[in-house]
Amino acid sequence: MTKDWVRWHRDYETPGSSLARRLTVVQDYLGRALGEGPLISLCAGDGRDVLPELARRRSVRAVLVELDPELSRRARTTAAELGLTGVDVRTADAGDATNYRDAAPAQVVMACGVFGNISETDVRRTVAALPSLLEPGGIVIWTRGRGDSGADPSDAVRGLFAENGFEEMAFARPADARFRVGMHRLVTEPGPPVAGRLFAFRAPQPPPGRGGRVAR
Ligand SMILES: C[S@@+](CC[C@H](N)C(=O)[O-])C[C@H]1O[C@@H](n2cnc3c(N)ncnc32)[C@H](O)[C@@H]1O
Repeated sequence: MTKDWVRWHRDYETPGSSLARRLTVVQDYLGRALGEGPLISLCAGDGRDVLPELARRRSVRAVLVELDPELSRRARTTAAELGLTGVDVRTADAGDATNYRDAAPAQVVMACGVFGNISETDVRRTVAALPSLLEPGGIVIWTRGRGDSGADPSDAVRGLFAENGFEEMAFARPADARFRVGMHRLVTEPGPPVAGRLFAFRAPQPPPGRGGRVAR
């Protein structure tokens, strides 16, 4: 079973939804972070978080990596409508860095909607690999959702960034929403070229009561 990510994107259209609010924060952070580029967006969806900002800075090159053919088609269409000739949308697996390693070193890497969908081991491996995708002083913008109870998983993600040579530039934790958005700057040397698989999305869990496990 795979998740319907096209459907997931529909929540962006509901004013005031958590996803719409998250988008505002992500776009604000990107407006502050982005300089001359380049930018890499992992699991880019339809690209709505980055394409408007890229349109304001037409010279910035960007690689958006999105596995879903419909979402990557939408991102490609929007980029073309905005006249963004420096944007390369790849319908590809972002868990395999060989699909975008040529775009490194990036000034900004986007990892939004990724960490909540992969295992803790994969989060650890991915954050550890991010320095190898960045130029010195490069910036990562990331998101993480939380459940109703227990520890907030975004704190573990922030800890991983600290362990891997990043300093926190901004972190949003609205009291009335489950989304978190972080922005971290690399303050150590970029790492050696990334090798091997970084992550794979977990299969979605069936809803409770259908004979399956309780949804995460
Ligand atoms: C939670 S959505 C986030 C989309 C976008 N980054 C955003 O925040 O609006 C996760 C996205 O990751 C994509 N995806 C899942 N596995 C992927 C993979 N291995 N490589 C690239 N994209 C993937 C899905 O198709 C989906 O569009």
